[in-house]
Amino acid sequence: MSQIVKCRDLHFAIGDLLIIMDKFIWTNEYSVGIKEIDEQHQHFFEIANRIIDLTMKTDLAQEDVAKSLEELGNYAFYHLGTEEGYFDKFNYPDAPLHIAAHNDYRKMVNDYFVQLRAAGSDFKKIAEEMASYSINWLSGHILLVDKKYTQFFNEHGLS
Ligand SMILES: [Fe+2]
Repeated sequence: MSQIVKCRDLHFAIGDLLIIMDKFIWTNEYSVGIKEIDEQHQHFFEIANRIIDLTMKTDLAQEDVAKSLEELGNYAFYHLGTEEGYFDKFNYPDAPLHIAAHNDYRKMVNDYFVQLRAAGSDFKKIAEEMASYSINWLSGHILLVDKKYTQFFNEHGLS
């Protein structure tokens, strides 16, 4: 008999091979109070959710997976750059710590790409891991790190 164990964002059905990853569902809790940034965060999650859908397919082409992961990575880097642009522009005092957190994510994405390019890579597993990691990372980062700039950015006229 299989037993379902809920472990944060993953459901494991022990005893068979069923693994269902939860997609991210946006709620107001994730708003940082800045329209442009909220829209970027939502788009980031949309791409990650699409990758999760993609990995559910049985006839998965490596090329499609690589394209989607590239789209996610490129968009993530563009988004992190947007925030960092405002840090510079407004001289945000918490920038160094915040940028260090962004750099952790950048490093992970680059590691996934190295794995993906390796000969004989398990591209489905890499896609699942990268999408899941991205959702976990960004949702935690918004709540614990991004929300700290809301008041500061608002005071500089960004809302
Ligand atoms: Fe951030």
